[in-house]
Amino acid sequence: MAEQRGLGNTTDLTGRTALVTGGGSGIGAACARALAGGGAHVVVIDRDAEAAEAVAIEIGGESLALDLGDLDALAARSFDADILLNNAGIQTVAPIVDFDPATFRRMLDIMVTAPFLLTRAVLPGMYQRRWGRIVNISSVHGLRASEYKSAYVTAKHALEGLSKVTALEGGPRGVTSNCLNPGYVNTPLVQKQIADQARTHGIPESEVIEKVMLAESAIKRLLEPEEVADLALWLCGPMAGSVTGSSYTMDGGWSAR
Ligand SMILES: NC(=O)c1ccc[n+]([C@@H]2O[C@H](COP(=O)([O-])OP(=O)(O)OC[C@H]3O[C@@H](n4cnc5c(N)ncnc54)[C@H](O)[C@@H]3O)[C@@H](O)[C@H]2O)c1
Repeated sequence: MAEQRGLGNTTDLTGRTALVTGGGSGIGAACARALAGGGAHVVVIDRDAEAAEAVAIEIGGESLALDLGDLDALAARSFDADILLNNAGIQTVAPIVDFDPATFRRMLDIMVTAPFLLTRAVLPGMYQRRWGRIVNISSVHGLRASEYKSAYVTAKHALEGLSKVTALEGGPRGVTSNCLNPGYVNTPLVQKQIADQARTHGIPESEVIEKVMLAESAIKRLLEPEEVADLALWLCGPMAGSVTGSSYTMDGGWSAR
């Protein structure tokens, strides 16, 4: 009731369980810390078992080593959670004519089909308890395209669609679903693509951040993972109960163009 009337604006997640995919690094690790800081019991899912365990130990949660690209293994498992944060993702930079079809398929498996399977798995419990929060870490590339990122842009646009359908089906049953759409965030995923971006754009690596990554952004700095995590935490809090089917850009003004 307090939540419905908007009383109290701190995010108390005591007693809630959260699944965070790709929680071993970058944005996922920051979100796992933020949710645990709010009192949630966090399950850190990552294909990197050591990284997942390290974050889980730090936040007093648990870890689960899983390759989300292995869809059969994923579909065979059962999951229960109050909060699902679909975050795991990878990047490959290459022109369409050179883009390996197997890589394209795997990226869609990890960034679209795995979130679908996890959403499908947790919704029944959320419906039963009439409370659930699904946060999908999309990207400004869920709303805008860039050359040489066909699989990534396709996957993130698809995740936007999944998130909206989840919002419509879940709304009457207490479940919200939203996307976060960051521009470039200071994580290993971004550091790893600097060399590829330099090669495909034909510029030195030292110019990639300024000339490629921040070209469209009015704010000329990379985001920090904690900034994304803060908004994710707010979406799980008492003041965001009517926020659903939305996509929150945090892109330094990129998509204002
Ligand atoms: N970094 C950015 O600039 C940026 C911008 C917008 C959106 N995003 C999105 O944020 C999410 C996290 O990105 P990040 O920058 O923190 O990356 P990151 O590389 O720091 O972390 C990604 C994590 O996901 C895990 N992972 C990757 N593939 C997996 C798989 N098949 N199964 C299980 N775990 C897997 C990795 O092991 C890693 O721990 C991604 O979905 C990415 O698309 C990132």
